[in-house]
Amino acid sequence: MFEYIGWVVLAVLTLLAVKVFKDLNSSGVTVDENIPDVLEIQDFTPKTLAKYNGTDDKRILVAVRGKVYDVSGGKKYYGPDGPYAFMAGHDASRALAKHSFGNENLTPLDEPIDTLEGLNEEEWAALNQWIEFFASKYTFCGNLVNP
Ligand code: HEM
Repeated sequence: MFEYIGWVVLAVLTLLAVKVFKDLNSSGVTVDENIPDVLEIQDFTPKTLAKYNGTDDKRILVAVRGKVYDVSGGKKYYGPDGPYAFMAGHDASRALAKHSFGNENLTPLDEPIDTLEGLNEEEWAALNQWIEFFASKYTFCGNLVNP
């Protein structure tokens, strides 16, 4: 009898573990145990943000329209081998608005933060959707400011 209950408990725990694992994966967020959970909310300049590129620092941060998000959970996208690695440690606003790959829409680190002048209506609409996307999926960890 007790042996039977033991098996039932084991089965339930296994099912729960599978569900938690699937939930984590379905949002594309993975947990990297090498990265401490908490990063104090702080201001970042383009230069202080830059090290959070998944290589110099394991944590990966991306700025969108002045707000910095911890996207470490999306390592498969922004990590060194991911398709969006170019955004890691950078202000990705203009690249996201224009849906462009590569560095041509990233502001050089020693220049002031992009004011996003010149974006057309469609690009602003795209950017606003990305702003919502990042805010809902990732943890906010500070503002991007000029030095
Ligand atoms: C060749 C064209 C592209 C294809 C086929 C593509 C495909 C995808 C796919 C399949 C996803 C995952 C969606 C999901 O998990 O539900 C994704 C996510 C994403 N894509 Fe693209 N993409 C392309 C171009 C771009 C470009 C040009 C940008 C921006 C400059 C971009 C930015 C993103 C971002 C930020 C995400 C979200 C990743 C996350 O979950 O954090 N993509 N894309």
